Amino acid sequence: MRRKFASAVLMLVVLAVASPALQAQTKTTGAQGHPWYQNAVFYEIYPRSFMDSNGDGVGDLNGIASKLDYLHDLGVDAIWIAPCFPSPQVDFGYDVSDYENIDPMYGTLADFDRLQKLGEEHGIRIILDLVVNHTSDQHPWFIDSRSSRTSEKRDWYIWRDGKGKNPPNNWLSTFGGSAWQWDRKTNQYYYHFFYAQQPDLNWRNPAVVDAMYGTTAWWYQRGVAGFRLDAVDTLYEDPNLKDNPVLPGKNAFGDPNLQNIYNDKLPEVHTALKGLRAVADKYNAVLIGETWTDNVAELKEYYGAGHDELQMPMDLMLTELTFSAPVLREHIKAVEASGEWPAYVISNHDIVRAWNRYGDGRHNDAIAKDMAAMYLTLRGTPIMYYGEEIGMQNNDPKRREDVKDPIGRTGWPKEKGRDGERTPMQWSADPHAGFTTGTPWNAIPGTYRAYNVADELKDPDSILNWYKGLLALRHTNPALLEGRYVALDENNPNVLSYLRKSNGGAAIIVINLSAAPQKVNFDLSPQGLRAGSAKTLMTTQAPLKENSSVEQLALEPFAVYIAEVRK
Ligand code: GLC
Repeated sequence: MRRKFASAVLMLVVLAVASPALQAQTKTTGAQGHPWYQNAVFYEIYPRSFMDSNGDGVGDLNGIASKLDYLHDLGVDAIWIAPCFPSPQVDFGYDVSDYENIDPMYGTLADFDRLQKLGEEHGIRIILDLVVNHTSDQHPWFIDSRSSRTSEKRDWYIWRDGKGKNPPNNWLSTFGGSAWQWDRKTNQYYYHFFYAQQPDLNWRNPAVVDAMYGTTAWWYQRGVAGFRLDAVDTLYEDPNLKDNPVLPGKNAFGDPNLQNIYNDKLPEVHTALKGLRAVADKYNAVLIGETWTDNVAELKEYYGAGHDELQMPMDLMLTELTFSAPVLREHIKAVEASGEWPAYVISNHDIVRAWNRYGDGRHNDAIAKDMAAMYLTLRGTPIMYYGEEIGMQNNDPKRREDVKDPIGRTGWPKEKGRDGERTPMQWSADPHAGFTTGTPWNAIPGTYRAYNVADELKDPDSILNWYKGLLALRHTNPALLEGRYVALDENNPNVLSYLRKSNGGAAIIVINLSAAPQKVNFDLSPQGLRAGSAKTLMTTQAPLKENSSVEQLALEPFAVYIAEVRK
């Protein structure tokens, strides 16, 4: 199997030389030869909710294409589109029934090719979302697998006998209930870490591995610049199916808490990632991982000891930290100490929007600007989530009957599901926020009248213009492009300050993360820089625009100050 696959890869390399789409993937950027993704800004698009071009209330690929000018002007270099493949949509596309096509709801392969081409013209690469852990139960592979115990694809999924009348072990689905589904036809259980309609693939079967590697190559040939790999932590399970240890308490679904040591982050995951990376490397493609880690040491493992796994395992830990200078400083310090290239994320389609999560309920707009200033000026690649740049807010359903995401119905009221963070993009103050001429699939919060692209573009102090300024700066300022991170004023409980320092220059970033005014003093001589040489690059505090020294700075609540400093 492996040999057959290797020759397929070789053929694709030959094709790569001939294809202009692939040549576009091979460009590097950055004065010091950074791979393209290190100087890029990524932007996640939830395709149902970005822009509807045909009035059916659901976003689509042509809708995305119509907004490429917006994305380009914002400063986005690559878009990650959440799954847009054919799917019964039980998990809104994360249940794929065909990996090599586009769901008619979103368009056609021709629409995809058009988007790809327009993307190239706008300098925007396309990243697709590969659901590697499981398929839909409607995928032909699973339909064959469940048809009989001796079917060709039986072993493509994980089938086991029960223990008497019980499932094979105590493993639970992260979406509630047992992770085992009884199948009457063949009298066995199959395993699903997510919904029962999302049976787990058996990654111990080389044919499965081959098929998934082949799918990535198929899309690279079409010109995609990489993948966000979904749920990589759970690719493998203990073959002996040992019970997971039971912890005290119950989860939102009323199930016992378990420590998932036998079906989460098994070492074999790294073998699969190395294989996916070997294919990606042939196309200079980037692999981003949905890596839920508990600490930086765990995150580091996903890069691979020989840097031969993911180039960008997502730092999702940042989404779980509180808005506090010491907490954020400590995390950045650990990430920097790891020596890896960070991939920072502050929001996505599975978690409460950043505006609500970090916000204190009173200063959320200012706090949104603080978080942006921090993660867009740190060393690393940021992955934004659509709408974050306009301060979009969560809009959780108020009643169980309005919930669309199945986990919100199973777990109501403790778990309200993820509808709230997946609402349509707010383009304007027009009806339905300018997202659709039809009826939007998901409720738009009334706040869209104040938080929308059209109005924020006109307001120099909007969150949107703040993001635009930061993105322009990080694309052009040598210190932000190349500089190393140097923590400053490390014992300050309220103000987060640091330098980005390169041979080409230095930038100082000072963020007051408190609701009180703060005074800070900097002596930059130990860094070979003059605190009296400041030239303001960006600030939320208008009077500081003309400031020329950071020897003493008086900051308003939540103020951000970014300046160039010289030798
Ligand atoms: C990932 C996705 C999430 C999905 C799950 C199952 O966590 O981000 O949206 O429900 O995988 O595919």
